[in-house]
Amino acid sequence: MRWLFLLLPLFLSAAPIPRDAKIYVAGHRGLVGSAICRKLEQEGFTHIIRYSSKDLDLRDQSAVNAFFESERPEYVFLGAAKVGGIFANYTYPAEFIYDNITIGTNIIHAAYKTGVKKLLFLGSACIYPRDCPQPIKEEYLLTGLLEKTNDAYALAKIAGLEMCRHYKRQYGVNFISCMPTNLFGVGDNFHPENSHALPALIRKCVEAKEKNLPYITLWGTGKPTREFLFVDDLADACLFLMENYDGEETINVGTESDISIAEVASLIKSLVGYEGEIRCDTSRPDGMPKRLLDISKIRNLGWQPNTDLKEGLKTTIDWYRANVNK
Ligand SMILES: NC(=O)c1ccc[n+]([C@@H]2O[C@H](COP(=O)([O-])OP(=O)(O)OC[C@H]3O[C@@H](n4cnc5c(N)ncnc54)[C@H](OP(=O)(O)O)[C@@H]3O)[C@@H](O)[C@H]2O)c1
Repeated sequence: MRWLFLLLPLFLSAAPIPRDAKIYVAGHRGLVGSAICRKLEQEGFTHIIRYSSKDLDLRDQSAVNAFFESERPEYVFLGAAKVGGIFANYTYPAEFIYDNITIGTNIIHAAYKTGVKKLLFLGSACIYPRDCPQPIKEEYLLTGLLEKTNDAYALAKIAGLEMCRHYKRQYGVNFISCMPTNLFGVGDNFHPENSHALPALIRKCVEAKEKNLPYITLWGTGKPTREFLFVDDLADACLFLMENYDGEETINVGTESDISIAEVASLIKSLVGYEGEIRCDTSRPDGMPKRLLDISKIRNLGWQPNTDLKEGLKTTIDWYRANVNK
């Protein structure tokens, strides 16, 4: 009977969100936030609240409190964060820990104070312990040491996840969280140094093709394997979880298939049509050797990813060429 009791929160009050509900998408200009807005618009939601960081600095507690008091959102997708690849995480750890702790804390507390009906906090697969078994199950969180190259970010994100869990437990609020794997897609950050591995590779290949460069350089050995999820699939999962999941435990969102950085680099190279060489700069860090999520929980709830890696990469490369690399 105990298992039945444990399953109860899954079915408690999960329900479709009314299409005219007031929904705040924090970080709506980012990779994830913009995909969530696209998904909500496609699904007929009519009242999406969007504020850029210029209009509302989410690190400013009094501004966040005033915003929640005046706008009174009913649902919150918390996709605002300071995000970046290995270089940015390693170079700006103080900013990563401060910004992400304050953004998470300010929004979660203000949402509780103003009676938000449901909130989804976005964690990240990179906050699981460095050496945990693969594929990674949700229960491995906080069971081992973190990956050093992003521990400041990971600690801040873990604080946000745990806040949702504890606020749910003490105050009975419906704040949930999910753990997306590496994402890519339309609207990504293609900055040469601060971006993630995949958009950085797209940029390098497109630029190398245009400039006729003989080779591009990969950070690290190219051996680590990663799982990549198209961001529109993540947005679909976020709405799915908001409407179908009320549990206390975080939920992994991924594809359950991984590929080495070297292999994904050659796939991008061929999609871009670049004919030069790919060289590895082994003086640069690799990060975690392998990261693959176990997504049986979300699959069992009825969700699965839709876009294959090649198709998602083609869409992203076309978007990059048309919008960033004009
Ligand atoms: N990208 C990935 O591969 C990945 C993987 C797993 C999980 N996630 C999670 O998904 C979430 C979003 O990531 P993302 O890739 O979409 O990041 P992103 O593209 O860098 O977007 C982050 C957004 O956060 C907003 N933001 C940052 N600091 C802010 C501040 N002080 N005040 C107000 N807004 C602020 C930015 O707003 P402005 O544009 O207005 O400045 C931006 O729109 C994060 O929680 C991240 O942990 C991402």
